[in-house]
Amino acid sequence: MKIIAGPASTALSEAVSAQSNIPTVSVVSKTFPDGESYVRLDGEVAGKSVAIIQTTCPPAQDSRLFQLAFLADAAKRAGAIKVSAVVPYLAYARQDKMFLTGEGLSVETIARMLKAAGVDELFTVNIHSEQTLTQFPFPAKTVSAIGLIADYFIKKGHQGAYALAPDKGAMYIAQQAQSVLGGDAGHLNKTRDRHTGQTVQTAEGLNVKNKTVIILDDIISTGGTIVGAAKILREQGAAHIFCGCVHGLLIGDAQKRILDAGVEEIVGTDSVPGPASKVSLSPLISQVLKGAN
Ligand code: R5P
Repeated sequence: MKIIAGPASTALSEAVSAQSNIPTVSVVSKTFPDGESYVRLDGEVAGKSVAIIQTTCPPAQDSRLFQLAFLADAAKRAGAIKVSAVVPYLAYARQDKMFLTGEGLSVETIARMLKAAGVDELFTVNIHSEQTLTQFPFPAKTVSAIGLIADYFIKKGHQGAYALAPDKGAMYIAQQAQSVLGGDAGHLNKTRDRHTGQTVQTAEGLNVKNKTVIILDDIISTGGTIVGAAKILREQGAAHIFCGCVHGLLIGDAQKRILDAGVEEIVGTDSVPGPASKVSLSPLISQVLKGAN
């Protein structure tokens, strides 16, 4: 097997290569003056299985998706026998249902595009809904980085912290963290208006007074969910509030709003390289590739 180091995940690809002893093929990439993407494989892949590691987080998620598709096509044309796409943050994964009349199913369109380009299987990390992957036209699997994030908090001395999911759907995430942290776990309730995007959060029966609480979620986008959760935790007397997420998109001033809301630290992964990417997915992805090799 060879790793193709996607332009959006070069550092992560090198880390995975170092941990798994799978060699990398580097990629030459550029953007033409008109905005179109160009990629070229700078190494041999003929007769090999390849894993393209390419996150598709903002900014420029559409270009990153096209780079991924173009790399799959280039690998197949260069004689690769199997192309695995390793996409830590899969763009459009939250557009997995037709909520309103007239909508399409964006994430399925993306999957069909990748299949047409030459992708044979896909691995991603903490996709918003695992069910989404069952509709993909190739085998697709999601793995969880919550254990790695919980380990980070343990190393910072937060053993026994309360693991809080900001909504019921994220309770499985809080429970995964709880199994590492060893404290209690619970969730808030959240409802979203599909037209305005506004959410309302409520708490029932939380017991967080004087406790250290870690809010855990798959994605932080605008930060509204975490800000709302932190407000409730402050009202309920939590002593310390932290936040762990797999995909810290932190759009606009989200980071500042979350810190201003009383969260002491935001911890994300390198699925979204940036100020919060304090945990590397490299051990998780190395394990996945060793299993697939
Ligand atoms: C939605 O259910 C997700 O799990 C996240 O809670 C959500 O995407 C976060 O979005 P925002 O940061 O904009 O509140």
